[in-house]
Amino acid sequence: MSNNNEGKDLVVGVTEESTSDMALAEDLKSGTQNVLKYASLLTLTVQNAALGLTMRMARTQKDLFIASTAVVIAEFVKLVTCLIMVFIEEGSFKRWRTSLLNIVIKQPLDTLKVSVPSLVYTLQNNLIYIGATHLDAATCQVTYQLKILTTALFSVAMLNKKLFMLQWVALFFLFIGVAFVQFAQANTTQINPAGREQSPFFGFLAIFTACCLSGFAGVYFEKILKGSDISVWMRNVQLSTFSIPIGLATTFLSSYSEVQERGFFFGYTMLTWFVILLQALGGLLVAVVVKYADNILKGFATSLAIVLSCIVSVYAFQFHLTGQFALGAGLVIMSIFLYSKPASAHKKTNGQEIGKRTYEMKI
Ligand code: C5P
Repeated sequence: MSNNNEGKDLVVGVTEESTSDMALAEDLKSGTQNVLKYASLLTLTVQNAALGLTMRMARTQKDLFIASTAVVIAEFVKLVTCLIMVFIEEGSFKRWRTSLLNIVIKQPLDTLKVSVPSLVYTLQNNLIYIGATHLDAATCQVTYQLKILTTALFSVAMLNKKLFMLQWVALFFLFIGVAFVQFAQANTTQINPAGREQSPFFGFLAIFTACCLSGFAGVYFEKILKGSDISVWMRNVQLSTFSIPIGLATTFLSSYSEVQERGFFFGYTMLTWFVILLQALGGLLVAVVVKYADNILKGFATSLAIVLSCIVSVYAFQFHLTGQFALGAGLVIMSIFLYSKPASAHKKTNGQEIGKRTYEMKI
């Protein structure tokens, strides 16, 4: 995305007619960017809510698919998408091949660095499925917001970033909000809609661990990306290069006998494929959102997704919306706004922003 000022600098010394042409071009460009901004935010909102809901639906089907296989397939989908995007960026097969060779193969150390977030994201993605198996969609979604807290803590610890007082307050409210939502879960049923036993505590542990991994992977990624000019699509090719074998190893270690007995694609339905596509889309979508929108709007999309999930959960899953849950979810939504507000103000003054993730790469 080019800088708006570039166009303004060129205006000096040209005729009035071309000035108005340029102004028109500027208007068009900012109009397109606005469309992209709101389109990506709307897509993120729908994707967030839909993923939470459909993943829960998929994990409460009669035949339970092997979650680790779904993680591998999602990585595969992302790899193919990113290879296509790199091709579009490069413009020809020859340049595409050279660029892949130069960046992924001929810089093994750089590629190796990406193996750490690959491993962490693979574990994280597996844990989210475990969470969705044991927690209803709304609780899962609210609890997953703890990743804002873990990302902030890892940013402070690993990148020496500073948080505003108001942001610490927001993180405290976030924590309290999630605690409320968890306590509201304590008295809920231990049997899921498919009649299988579920353990909300186990689900919480899985999501909590996923949040810690999310925070670490995001910050680590940011650290290794500093100063790098590699596009987000190429980075994701590197990520998937490791994620696919790591994901397969996870399947082998955790579900070898099940895969042997029932097959890799056991329990796959249209819904399972839909969840896989949504998860793959989600990973790539954040990149676009952070590129064209800001953190406040991203927080808005996340909050709206929580509200959407709650409403649909009440109607589709007979989710019992208690006062305690509503209070907790409200606190989480409020804290997302409180947290992102000073960050964006800070960005205006010196370009630093905590919580803004690695996705801010060149795309
Ligand atoms: O923000 P959060 O930690 O939830 O995002 C992590 C998810 O995004 C994971 O599913 C990960 O595989 C995906 N991701 C991706 N490409 C990146 C960064 C994250 O696909 N560059």
